[in-house]
Amino acid sequence: MKRLLVTGGAGFIGANFCHYWCSTHPLDRVVVLDALTYAGNLASIAPLIDSGKLRFERGDIGERSRVAALITEEAIDTVVNFAAESHVDRSLEDPATFLRTNVLGTQALLDAARGAWGADAGRRGCRFHHVSTDEVYGSLGPGAAAFTESTPYAPNSPYAASKAAADHLVRAYSHSFGLPCSISNCSNNYGPYQFPEKLLPLCILNILEGRPLPIYGDGQQIRDWLHVSDHCRALELILAQPAASGTWNVGGSTQEPNLTVVGMVCDLVDRAFAAERSLAARFPSCPAAGGRASRTLIRHVQDRPGHDRRYAVDSTRIRERLGFAIGTPLAPGLEDTVRWYLGNEGWWRSVVSGDYRQWYARQYAGKVGA
Ligand SMILES: NC(=O)c1ccc[n+]([C@@H]2O[C@H](COP(=O)([O-])OP(=O)(O)OC[C@H]3O[C@@H](n4cnc5c(N)ncnc54)[C@H](O)[C@@H]3O)[C@@H](O)[C@H]2O)c1
Repeated sequence: MKRLLVTGGAGFIGANFCHYWCSTHPLDRVVVLDALTYAGNLASIAPLIDSGKLRFERGDIGERSRVAALITEEAIDTVVNFAAESHVDRSLEDPATFLRTNVLGTQALLDAARGAWGADAGRRGCRFHHVSTDEVYGSLGPGAAAFTESTPYAPNSPYAASKAAADHLVRAYSHSFGLPCSISNCSNNYGPYQFPEKLLPLCILNILEGRPLPIYGDGQQIRDWLHVSDHCRALELILAQPAASGTWNVGGSTQEPNLTVVGMVCDLVDRAFAAERSLAARFPSCPAAGGRASRTLIRHVQDRPGHDRRYAVDSTRIRERLGFAIGTPLAPGLEDTVRWYLGNEGWWRSVVSGDYRQWYARQYAGKVGA
């Protein structure tokens, strides 16, 4: 039986992880620590809190002594660190916030775990797992081999640089202090509970509201798409290994350009409207409500500075050593995601606050219209 501290558990991947873990490991203790920034939504884990399946604490990973006290009070043996500022566009506007949470926050969390667990953390089976990204490896040329665990780091955005720095700190705490740590670097996640600033939920919501779909540049930036449920299963496999197992790359084995994936989402919404008449009444501004193709909303906007062209993750290590396999390929995964947003209008209306509307207006409205 494990006792987990899940930081950032009210965010997209953290919330999915909590749902997954509480249903597959019902005897484990799960405590969520989350600062509830604009990206954190209690609604995503409310059913787990209400049913007593997890304890929620609002707080910042940078509050070292408070976090150490929580680890001690709850006899936490496993920290899974999802807490981060995670949106590249926002890191271009305000890098300092990213350094504060992703670098200094991670370092404070490492200190808190080290202080609470003491020198024999490894012997006692304690574990610090840090969730990171493939963006630390930089951008790949069209024919270049996918990132492996030994690809040198070459981050290109303040977000990626902050995650790279955090990864180095985790490694250093393991090496210098013997803290039992592991790291996973995964590719682009998609699925339920993703905050609408990210490409796919942004497109789904804009289609439903008949707003333009802003696509950076030519839309040919290739990403390796991973359904969040597969990420959660990969983390479960990794957590079952000793901390000394080190770094694990987790990819979706599906490299597709942004424009292709957005086109697939448009077609899925159109098909859903064709199959279910009530959707036209619920979302009258959606092109599909009037029998038009949602693809007509696509608009190319000026690319963001330093936009990486291609990411691709080589998952050979986790596949061969831990038997990891993709359970949800892209097409059914996107269908499931579109269906989830159609069925959870209450969730996304509650998270699309004034802050989001303001950010969206700053980011896109001048480029594509409201
Ligand atoms: N989304 C992806 O495609 C992707 C891919 C690879 C890696 N990752 C990594 O996975 C992790 C989770 O990503 P996500 O997409 O769920 O992010 P998210 O932005 O949806 O959620 C982040 C969560 O962290 C919380 N948080 C932020 N600052 C905090 C702080 N100082 N203290 C405590 N909580 C804080 C937020 O309130 C939010 O709930 C991140 O570390 C991210 O770098 C994400």
